[in-house]
Amino acid sequence: MNCPLESKKIILGISGGIAAYKAAYIASALVKRGADVHVVMTDSALKLIQPATFWAITSNQVITDIFEPPQKREIVHIALPQSADIMLIAPATANVIGKLANGIADDMLTTMALVAKKIVICPAMNVDMYQNPVVVANMDKLRGLGYEIIEAESGRLACGDEGVGRLAEPDKIVEHLEAILSGASQDYSKINVLITAGPTHESIDPVRFISNRSSGKMGYAIAAEAAARGAKVTLISGPTDLAAPSGVEVAVVQTVREMYDEVISRVASSDLFISAAAPADFRPAQPKAAKIKKSDHYTLELDQTEDILAAVGASKGNTVVVGFAAETDDLIANATEKLHRKKADLMVANYVGEGSEVFGGEANQVTLITHQSEPVELPKMSKRSVAKQILDYVKSNFLEDVK
Ligand SMILES: Cc1cc2nc3c(=O)[nH]c(=O)nc-3n(C[C@H](O)[C@H](O)[C@H](O)COP(=O)(O)O)c2cc1C
Repeated sequence: MNCPLESKKIILGISGGIAAYKAAYIASALVKRGADVHVVMTDSALKLIQPATFWAITSNQVITDIFEPPQKREIVHIALPQSADIMLIAPATANVIGKLANGIADDMLTTMALVAKKIVICPAMNVDMYQNPVVVANMDKLRGLGYEIIEAESGRLACGDEGVGRLAEPDKIVEHLEAILSGASQDYSKINVLITAGPTHESIDPVRFISNRSSGKMGYAIAAEAAARGAKVTLISGPTDLAAPSGVEVAVVQTVREMYDEVISRVASSDLFISAAAPADFRPAQPKAAKIKKSDHYTLELDQTEDILAAVGASKGNTVVVGFAAETDDLIANATEKLHRKKADLMVANYVGEGSEVFGGEANQVTLITHQSEPVELPKMSKRSVAKQILDYVKSNFLEDVK
């Protein structure tokens, strides 16, 4: 499948924020995906990072000065944004955001922004600046005018403060751009989706726990796909190494009990619940407060954990419920039995036995099982493509009335 960024002309506007160095990673990621990247820098950005970096990464001239005579017989600040597919401003300073919100065009970047068809803004600044009512109002105004804003993230800021203001993760920014340029339909824009992903950790003692081989990649792929199609997505994730998908609210939990509480408190307001997590079936009956010694001759007793999918199925109201059945034997029979027992609407059956490479892998081969129709066996494909197929199937079979 072609990458949505292949042969796309992208203007990367860089303004004078300390995160300007991260724009080099973004430029490189866009070029690797086949995009034709044209960098435009403000005077302040030039004081923080050298244009030669971007010339070397993009193989295009870096544009900095509105009065510099162009190489071709064309007015660059008009011709380039007219011909570009999208303009990305990363990082966007408070100053640039303020200028854009007020139609000010006093340099190359802001002038091009008045011509560009589609603009994505990635703000980055100190937390006090980010929460300043003028900046908040400017961002609201831009949103209302159709600009896409990829919100800054929380964390330790360059100035030493803690709080919101860090540039969104470069990979997230690139993913977001891919979603926009893929022309993904916004068919989930009215749908609230609640998804679980990953394993759980059930403590044996302070240093040991029971877990399983789930990587969380399938659930994260569904969350990313649903968000790209406009859904409001909440992801309840067990411990994983994965980055939060763009535009998804993530609550990280450790145990089945915590996952259960998060799901139950949110499921009533969800149109669709997808249980892609692998919560532990058992937890230690009496986790120890102190480390168990090798010499203790300890016998581990287990209790059953809460059954999250069954609890949701038993009281689901109007929520469409999708479960995953990871089986090593009698895949279809076991998954069909699970569909009935958990009162789910759809069961996604996947074989996880020897040679399947599902856990931690990038691909999956699943069969969709419902009460109404014959099982639909899908070929092996990437987890993101499986996510797309599941959402397509759910939309046409269960969500017609919501739209
Ligand atoms: C070291 C340094 C780091 C800065 N980082 C930021 C930043 O992260 N975000 C921001 O809005 N302004 C930041 N500023 C302030 C801007 O550079 C300043 O407002 C400038 O006028 C922005 O110009 P521009 O928007 O045309 O690039 C920083 C300034 C300095 C000296």
